[in-house]
Amino acid sequence: MKITIIGTGNMGSAFVKQLTLAGHQVKVTARDSAKATQVAAAHPGASAVATAGSAADADAVVLATGYADAVQALQTVGDLKGKIIIDITNPITADYMGLTIGHTTSSAEQIAQAVPGAEVVKAFNTLFAQVLGDGADFGNGRKASVFVASDSVRAKQVATTLAQSMGFEVVDAGALNNARYLEPLAGLNIYLGYGAGLGTGIAPTWIRKA
Ligand SMILES: NC(=O)c1ccc[n+]([C@@H]2O[C@H](COP(=O)([O-])OP(=O)(O)OC[C@H]3O[C@@H](n4cnc5c(N)ncnc54)[C@H](OP(=O)(O)O)[C@@H]3O)[C@@H](O)[C@H]2O)c1
Repeated sequence: MKITIIGTGNMGSAFVKQLTLAGHQVKVTARDSAKATQVAAAHPGASAVATAGSAADADAVVLATGYADAVQALQTVGDLKGKIIIDITNPITADYMGLTIGHTTSSAEQIAQAVPGAEVVKAFNTLFAQVLGDGADFGNGRKASVFVASDSVRAKQVATTLAQSMGFEVVDAGALNNARYLEPLAGLNIYLGYGAGLGTGIAPTWIRKA
């Protein structure tokens, strides 16, 4: 697939690595074009592109900025009507130990409202960048899970296909408003990783009796 990634930070860089390894055509864009060039150069199959128009031929856009920057970043990449946006953001507080919104909304729903023509899917927000960068394999046959929530069947299918192409298990988490559960789940993961000292080589998953 053709994927545009907005952002070259921890998650953006990890997506560039794993999506190119999985054989996707990746474009990466950033406020700092030198950083985009540097990240793309490290991964054959990736190219750095100017922000304006970078979503034009993308099958999906991965939004890898902080939540506070998300809407503004989306507004710079061109017409998003009919585009699939993979929202990985978590609306975390400055000390990483809380969420700035929740219960009655989520960052995914706020972003969807701000870009009404786009099809937003919440996904990958419960994976630490280290886990995404290292890959899905947790050893002994265990795989990390990607939870996908969207009101768009097509967006959910694309996020599922991308996650599976990178080796992740996928859990269908229902409609986009279930991002209200997925964002706190990421908050718990952050607490366990940093607050409780388990480190960033952890990921939430769901198990079912055979
Ligand atoms: N880190 C994790 O383990 C993790 C896990 C799950 C989800 N997430 C979520 O993923 C998102 C990214 O996290 P991160 O750790 O990768 O953050 P990060 O390292 O701070 O990277 C954020 C990136 O967004 C870019 N950016 C900001 N505004 C932009 C704009 N208007 N246009 C283009 N790029 C813009 C920044 O560019 P500059 O370099 O110019 O500032 C930076 O490259 C966050 O919403 C976070 O909650 C993170």
